[in-house]
Amino acid sequence: MGRQRPSGIFRPPLIADLDPSKLIITLTDSPKPLPNPENLVFGTTMSDHMLVASFDPVDGWSAPEIKPYGPLSLDPASTCFQYAANIFEGMKAHLRPDGTPILFRPEMNVARLGRSADRLALPPFNPNALLELIRKLVALDKTWIPTAAGCSLYIRPTLIGTRPGVGASDRALLYVILSPSGPYFRKGPTSISLLAATQNVRAWPGGTAGNYAPGFLPQLEAAKLGYDQVLWLLKETGEDAKKKGGWRVTEAGAMNIFVVLSREDGDLDIVTPSLDGTILPGVTRDSVLHLCKAHTDKSKKLSLPGIPPPKSSTRTKSHSPSLTCSTGLLNTDYSKRSR
Ligand SMILES: Cc1ncc(COP(=O)(O)O)c(C=O)c1O
Repeated sequence: MGRQRPSGIFRPPLIADLDPSKLIITLTDSPKPLPNPENLVFGTTMSDHMLVASFDPVDGWSAPEIKPYGPLSLDPASTCFQYAANIFEGMKAHLRPDGTPILFRPEMNVARLGRSADRLALPPFNPNALLELIRKLVALDKTWIPTAAGCSLYIRPTLIGTRPGVGASDRALLYVILSPSGPYFRKGPTSISLLAATQNVRAWPGGTAGNYAPGFLPQLEAAKLGYDQVLWLLKETGEDAKKKGGWRVTEAGAMNIFVVLSREDGDLDIVTPSLDGTILPGVTRDSVLHLCKAHTDKSKKLSLPGIPPPKSSTRTKSHSPSLTCSTGLLNTDYSKRSR
């Protein structure tokens, strides 16, 4: 429904899109001390500022605002609290040698946030406008980008439904917060152990995995048994079950997974689950696939620096190192995986 206009003549509603030219900036008057990169715990330290914009069905997107980082004030009946109408992204900023911030393929993240908004019936936004605003926020807080090895500024764009009541939220709050981060696994990109989960699934065909919380209990249980992460499986059904039986490997923790298989001819196959709707279309996954293609020569031989050659050229489909990846981390070689 359009708002009543003073002229009394009906006009279609003028819904404003997210507009970086309307950005209002209020700087903090009490900047926080920068943390020691060695003490950073993922997602717990926030920079000085955050970006906020709200959507309502009459006016559309409000003027975006960069303001001091601080708590939000929300109706406790909001769909984000009651029905988990929440989506988020995760991306990273680093500093170039000349001191300017650089983001890694951020257009993929804002596009993915747009698709997540569609899936959870949250209001649409212009992804390019969001990216421009994120760049401004990161530039403003660039002293928060840690330069130590393995560190970065983690960017968390978030969109939450703020309308009370059951159903699609036509009111929403978009915010972006920044968190200086060290390596996700302190012990570095070495072996991690995976516990194959058969009781719980991360995502299912036709469903969503819009929230990490259902994975927290399986992760705790895996940790109690001495494993680092959960290997998420999905039971094969229908024709696939008849043909192959068993379980399909989907992801590991909050990471896409690749398995490197050595072939009889000594070449390698790098295998990853296809994007069937249960796999998060990771930016890192896509980048790894691009790298593999770029390093495959005309005779279809793969030569990737860092991937060791197969141990034996006589074993078919023997396991070489595996690799999991996400913006947060990259791990290789699950030497403890059969525990
Ligand atoms: C479930 C899940 N899989 C995979 C990924 C990796 O995605 P990306 O490479 O875009 O960070 C993430 C990101 O955190 C994730 O949450």
